[in-house]
Amino acid sequence: MRSWIFLAALPLTQATRVIQSNDDGWAEINLRTFFNVLTKAGHNVVLSGPAENQSGTGSSDAAPKTVDSDGCQFSSCPGGSPPTGSNSSNPRLNYVNSFPVTSIKTGIDTTAPKFFNGAKPEIALTGPNVGSNLGIQVPFSGTVGAAVYAAKDAGIPAIAFSGKSGSPTAWNQPTPFYSQVYADLALNLTSKILASGAPYLPDGVWLNVNFPEVTSTECNSANQFKFVLSRINWGIFSAKDVETCGTDRLPTENDVVGAGCYVSVSPGDASDKTTVDAERQKVVLQKLQGLLSCLP
Ligand SMILES: *[C@@H]1O[C@H](CO)[C@@H](O)[C@H](O)[C@H]1NC(C)=O
Ligand SMILES: *[C@@H]1O[C@H](CO)[C@@H](O)[C@H](O)[C@H]1NC(C)=O
Ligand SMILES: *[C@@H]1O[C@H](CO)[C@@H](O)[C@H](O)[C@H]1NC(C)=O
Repeated sequence: MRSWIFLAALPLTQATRVIQSNDDGWAEINLRTFFNVLTKAGHNVVLSGPAENQSGTGSSDAAPKTVDSDGCQFSSCPGGSPPTGSNSSNPRLNYVNSFPVTSIKTGIDTTAPKFFNGAKPEIALTGPNVGSNLGIQVPFSGTVGAAVYAAKDAGIPAIAFSGKSGSPTAWNQPTPFYSQVYADLALNLTSKILASGAPYLPDGVWLNVNFPEVTSTECNSANQFKFVLSRINWGIFSAKDVETCGTDRLPTENDVVGAGCYVSVSPGDASDKTTVDAERQKVVLQKLQGLLSCLP
């Protein structure tokens, strides 16, 4: 009886403690749209992103510095602002004037625990990055760097999202259509991972997720897209992948996003940013059962 009452009192969606970051900057609209979508879905979200565009800075990390005289990107903070700061009306929105790794680290260690009763985030979500991070681009991406830091150094399951469409846009502009579609898709995948139960991902695994172009005619709403399990780079000389879709070689991310309205989902190894072994691919495959499709 007691446990029945306890279950009945649970909210419909379990609020999950989420830390967000990116490399395009804390004020970029893809990140803010995803923040809004996650918050609306009932999650407990804290954003900690770089004060400036830090695209392409990989896994760099350095102590945050005072903001220079021209302020944060898109005038989102005044010149000479302190090395870290938050939006005065929404303290869940935070900048760190340094690299993506430094930003998510500061969020995990210092900012998020204030909102989570001292607990650490349960999942780290980076991006959606403005522009794809496919195959050989992966090691250079700060959006990937931040996710890999969370998975490897902080022991928090992490997903890096990137989308092909659009260009850098300030948070206070009207929400571009692609930003909304990417945020909806990112929530789809995140919800599926959360519903699969903890541990959300195997130890040392992160997911590299790439959304293809949003077009006005075909790939124009979240329900038009399908998710496909992929490899970061080709596996010609690698051991076999998990068996799925009738083969033991996963398609590359480039193959998937090049096929139309298909989203690539690559299980990555946090130790070196390459594709993980078949055993851990299989755990991800099972968690995403029902969401994943095969290429035509
Ligand atoms: C800060 O938050 C307020 C309220 O949500 C919003 O109107 C404003 O644009 C935000 N500014 C930045 C830089 O995030
Ligand atoms: C960040 O800089 C890169 C080049 O370094 C550029 O391609 C990208 O559009 C910029 N992004 C933003 C948000 O300004
Ligand atoms: C993703 O969520 C949208 C609603 O936002 C839904 O219409 C769509 O079917 C979902 N897609 C997948 C693949 O689950």
